[in-house]
Amino acid sequence: MSPIFENLVVFEGLDGSGTTTQMQLLAERCDKDLRACRATFEPTDKPIGRLVRAVLQKQIVTTPLALAMLYAADREDHLYNPIYGMASELKEGKLVICDRYIYSSLAYQGVECPLEKVQELNQFPAPQYLFFIDTPVEECIRRIESRGGNSELFDRHEFLEQVKTNYERLFSSLPQEVKFFRIDGMQSKEAIALEIRNALFTE
Ligand code: TYD
Repeated sequence: MSPIFENLVVFEGLDGSGTTTQMQLLAERCDKDLRACRATFEPTDKPIGRLVRAVLQKQIVTTPLALAMLYAADREDHLYNPIYGMASELKEGKLVICDRYIYSSLAYQGVECPLEKVQELNQFPAPQYLFFIDTPVEECIRRIESRGGNSELFDRHEFLEQVKTNYERLFSSLPQEVKFFRIDGMQSKEAIALEIRNALFTE
């Protein structure tokens, strides 16, 4: 048996696939239905997560492995920080909805670092629910460009193709305990949100 975090819902996908939108929509719906939840994301907005973003924005230059370590340190802190760690909230039965988790590290850092090394850094329990918002690379790039934001390290076509390949490899060998759902990211955001709610709440 692999260790699992009951009540942890994770959204994964390429940049521009719509994970952040779905994390927010699900949290809004839970609030409306008076279901206790916490919406959160990685990299976090805490000190280690801010370091990660500084690397992505090229304010800090480091190596791919150091970046992988920072993502993992941010995750460790996100889970177990004595003040805001999500592990204690999960234990209390709160639904924690997280935009990105270990699979982002394995898929993204796996492009430039040895996969075994990234796996070693990410020995965290798997989520109970894993949603992959499956949006084609071309569409993701179109959305990223239409946002007009400054292009971060990862907003590159070829890179995203490699990330997608890594994701697919991961999803073909998930622990049995993880409830995995692939969602067609070309649907409207409302249709995606409905599909997610149906998967979670109508078992
Ligand atoms: P995110 O905040 O989801 O993107 P955005 O700034 O568009 O909201 O994530 C920032 C980037 O970090 C994104 O390209 C995915 C990448 N990432 C990793 O490479 N490894 C990780 O472990 C995580 C959590 C994110």
